[in-house]
Amino acid sequence: MRNVYESSHPLVKHKLTILRDRETKPKKFRELIREIAILLAYEATRDLALAPTTVETPMGKAPGAFLQEQIGLVPVLRAGLGMVEGVWEMMPGSEVWHIGLFRDERTLKPVQYYNKLPVSPTVQVCIVLDPMLATGGSASATVDILKKWGAQRIKYMGIIAAPEGIKTLHDAHPDVDIHIAAVDERLNEIGYIVPGLGDAGDRQFGTG
Ligand code: PRP
Ligand code: URA
Repeated sequence: MRNVYESSHPLVKHKLTILRDRETKPKKFRELIREIAILLAYEATRDLALAPTTVETPMGKAPGAFLQEQIGLVPVLRAGLGMVEGVWEMMPGSEVWHIGLFRDERTLKPVQYYNKLPVSPTVQVCIVLDPMLATGGSASATVDILKKWGAQRIKYMGIIAAPEGIKTLHDAHPDVDIHIAAVDERLNEIGYIVPGLGDAGDRQFGTG
């Protein structure tokens, strides 16, 4: 599928294996989410625009380049919170805009409860951060919100996706690049990714 990038990086695969392990405790789980997010961001930002510049070194002038566009990191509460800090450290000039959604357990539809976007867009590229792409409802709703806000270029970064979630997001928003650490087998009857890693929010925050 066009626009869908599954990481083949050995470090991502190694860390993801420990992340999935049911014995991995919340502290280690949070560290891994952060580290995998940084590695995925490296891949997802490969096409960001650069503005050429010159820098003065102790030995003379060197050609250089700065990021040209303003980037917005959009973590989806709660589970996306664990992905934002590390990525932000890599791009400290980014703005961070939180969106709060939870999945209604009965309908599996996303319910929005928080949105602190400013009235008009302040960034050129938005990167949505949410580890789990299950039915795809939350990711599609987040992109809907960003597009209504006026966001021009949107990328989605997640850790594990079900094929159903990729299809839903891609069908609704074919212009959105999807960067993911792994695409799993399927969703189970209650909308969880199999084999997945369980509940990403609960495992980060020690709840559930
Ligand atoms: C999880 C996850 C996604 C959503 C994915 O959040 O972080 O936002 O489910 O499911 P979907 O693709 O079927 O929409 P959850 O609703 O569990 O909220 P939480 O992060 O606050 O625990
Ligand atoms: N949300 C999660 O945290 N895990 C899943 O498998 C599906 C949705």
